[in-house]
This record gives sequence, C-alpha cells and structure tokens, in this order.
Amino acid sequence: MVILLFGPPGSGKGTQSRLLSAWLGVPALSTGEMLRSEVAEGTELGRTVSELLASGQFVNDDLVNQIVTRKLQQPDYERGCLLDGYPRTVQQAEFLEAFLLSAGKPRAHVVHLDVPSEVILARLTSRLQCPNCKRTYNVTTEDLRWTTECGECGALLERRSDDRQEVILQRLRTYHDVTGPILALYTGEHYHRIDGNLPPDDVFLRIQHSLRPCLNGLQPAY
Ligand code: AP5
Repeated sequence: MVILLFGPPGSGKGTQSRLLSAWLGVPALSTGEMLRSEVAEGTELGRTVSELLASGQFVNDDLVNQIVTRKLQQPDYERGCLLDGYPRTVQQAEFLEAFLLSAGKPRAHVVHLDVPSEVILARLTSRLQCPNCKRTYNVTTEDLRWTTECGECGALLERRSDDRQEVILQRLRTYHDVTGPILALYTGEHYHRIDGNLPPDDVFLRIQHSLRPCLNGLQPAY
C-alpha cells in the first residue's frame, strides 16, 4: 500500500510521515530530503539541483520519477511505503499510477493536509531542522526554549535555504498552480482530507482514524 503525504510546503508532511512510518512499520521516502542530502554531500546530482532547491523551483519530472521508482522496487518497500512530497506535478502523479498498475499494486491513497497559507508562512519562517537526523523543530515551541540543539542527536539545528519569506511565497504559488491539480485524480476512498491546522498529535489521530479502514493488510503497531 502506497500512501502519499500531500499538502503545501510546511503543512506537516515530514512531521506526520515520521509518526506514520513508526505506526505502520513501513519506510517513508521524502524526495525533498533525498535531494537535500545530495546537495549536502556535494554529489554531481546535488550540484545540479542546489540552485533549484534554494529558489523553491521543482526538479525535472523524469529525474524524480526515476529516483522514486528505483526505491519502490527495493525489497523493504514491498509491503508498502509513505511518499512525502511526491508526486508534485500531474505528470508525476500519472507516472506513479501507471507504475503501480504495471507492478500489480493497488492505487495510492492520498492524505491531504489542509493548512491555510498564513499559518504556513508563520511555521516555515520559524522552522529549524537537524542537519544530522533531519528532525524538524519550530522555534515557537517549548522544545527550543533553552536550546538550539537537536533533542534526538544533539547536532546544532539549522535553517533550510528555502525557508526565506520570498522563497516560501514562491513555493506556495507553485503548490497552488502546479501541485494542487493532482487532487482531481484522487477521489472517493483514496482521498483523505485532514485538517492540518491542529496540534501535530491531533492531526496524527485524525489520519489514523481515516486510514484504519483501508490498511489493506498492513498491521499498525497499535
Ligand atoms: P520538500 O522537502 O518536500 O519541501 P516542501 O514540500 O516545501 O515541504 P516542507 O518540507 O517545507 O514542509 P512539510 O510539509 O514537510 O512540513 P514539516 O513537517 O517540516 O521539497 C523541497 C524542494 O525539493 C522543493 O521545493 C523542490 O525544489 C524539490 N522537490 C522535492 N520533491 C520534488 C518533486 N516530487 N518534484 C520536483 N521537485 C521536488 O513542518 C513545517 C514546520 O511546521 C516545522 O517547524 C514543524 O515543526 C511545524 N509543524 C508541523 N506540523 C505542525 C502542526 N500540526 N502544528 C504546528 N506546527 C507544526
């Protein structure tokens, strides 16, 4: 079973995919995280995409499709997985559906985290991320009252290069114009709209409630 974490930048896809991955015992793949790792490691791919990421533009569809489908064919993805930030264009969505069909797998389920733009802007201008374990934090929360070190691994937290106000606004525009139309492809039991403007634990409870009836053989941890 493939579950797509869908929503505007800063809607909590990364936050919820961590929780869901632990709950369902399947891996989570974030295309944004993968591309940022390539940049941090200074690989050839990383050098090619670095400027695109920093300015909030998309990486080429064919390249991302290839990266994702290569992963989906690995044995640890056999039972299911979470995709965070993919697909992001109608072309990517159609490619994924065709790939799943040809592999004899069921259609993906979409978890759509709905969050208003003004909330997004506040969240992303105050986000910090651990460069080591990739956990995200928000400077407005109690966690970071006394420290800017990661609570999981102790590394010094950083701001992402695309979390600048003008880039966030550009990412939001692209989401509405290019990514939003994907939702028309997912209807009925494959579409789960979740109010993402609630505390993270409440958002998680609502996702669990919505997905539970369609887990298709996956055994949640509780
Ligand atoms: P990507 O890394 O996917 O970025 P994004 O979609 O812009 O999403 P974010 O990671 O910014 O936010 P999120 O929804 O994960 O929120 P988070 O949980 O961190 O992609 C980056 C770039 O890579 C793209 O711009 C593009 O260039 C490229 N790329 C990636 N995929 C691609 C593709 N398929 N095709 C082409 N190019 C691609 O939460 C945000 C903040 O809010 C945090 O501080 C968090 O602590 C806080 N928070 C989370 N949930 C809550 C809550 N419920 N209440 C209050 N605060 C919350």
